[in-house]
Amino acid sequence: MNPGPAPRHSRITGTGSHLPALRLSNQQLVERLAADGIETSDDWIVERTGIRARHFADPAEHCSDLATAAARKALEAAGCTAADLDLIIVATSTPDMVFPSTACIVQRKLGVHGAAAFDVQAVCSGFVYALTLADAMIRSGGARCALVIGSEVFSRILDFKDRTTCVLFGDGAGAVVLQASDTPGIVATDLHADGRHVDILCTPGTVSGGAVTGDPLLRMDGQAVFKLAVGVLEDVARSTLAKAGRSADDIDWLIPHQANIRILQATAKRLKIPMEKVVVTVDAHGNTSAASVPLALDTAVRSGRIARGDTVMLQGVGGGFTWGAVLLDF
Ligand code: UT7
Repeated sequence: MNPGPAPRHSRITGTGSHLPALRLSNQQLVERLAADGIETSDDWIVERTGIRARHFADPAEHCSDLATAAARKALEAAGCTAADLDLIIVATSTPDMVFPSTACIVQRKLGVHGAAAFDVQAVCSGFVYALTLADAMIRSGGARCALVIGSEVFSRILDFKDRTTCVLFGDGAGAVVLQASDTPGIVATDLHADGRHVDILCTPGTVSGGAVTGDPLLRMDGQAVFKLAVGVLEDVARSTLAKAGRSADDIDWLIPHQANIRILQATAKRLKIPMEKVVVTVDAHGNTSAASVPLALDTAVRSGRIARGDTVMLQGVGGGFTWGAVLLDF
């Protein structure tokens, strides 16, 4: 049978997210850290980052569990079942295993088989990378119904003796169903990386000979990351808008990677987008790496802020150094 011409567009038909049950306010985290002699404060965390709370997964709860819970909600919102999927992509830096991919584990937990399934590793830009790939596969005729997930258990790789990083991150997952469509949809995408900056945000250890070799915990030069992030988020917003022939005024909702309220504010200011149009969840979730953008998207959709037809820009930035943006008509 002739499958017909490839669809012209891909469109998000459902969103979902999931947070682990354990929520730690800054004060609760401060008290836990103080017990180990690590000094920090709610005031410092709020003033420097805008973070007020984060969720941490239970030791028995894995990246694939959070991902599967978010996926089920996205499928329900899209009016699909897992059997409709022909592509599953999970963006994560904290997979369940070295291999197989978390996407294959999610597929098993969803009780289906046959669809292509693989992980994308682009750290905090991972979801934007994964969504771009799914869009390209759908528009080239390689898939019609994709599940795209960002899921992380960053609590597993945090050094709770390093106050410059352990107060920043949280666990969670967000997902979308992306389907072939005759109407847009995703309007433009733009991805970049600069491997010269591998060292400023990394978890340098690995598994070798049956043991962890090197440092298995997250390390970050916060100031270097901050400076690069603000610059590339402005650049990639402009380059993506240019590809679409649109301007910053056309954006109804800006969803940058939720790392630090000051990065969000600086990006919005440079693009002359009022903060009322910026989705902010970093206060409630902390930095959930690849999960942050789909978590923020789902939060804004379910609260009724983002409505069908709104123009939304999603932005990722993080380790690699990687960055990218997706412009879409929701
Ligand atoms: O997800 C990927 C993207 N990641 C990011 O975008 C993170 C980007 N970076 C940042 O968000 C910020 O650089 C941080 C939040 C990590 C740090 O904020 P900062 O304003 O750049 O602070 P700083 O590193 O300049 O540190 C200021 C002071 C230092 O003390 P001194 O040297 O001035 O005495 C730090 O030792 O704050 C101290 N400090 C803390 N104090 C209390 C650092 N961490 C803490 C802490 N509690 N948790």
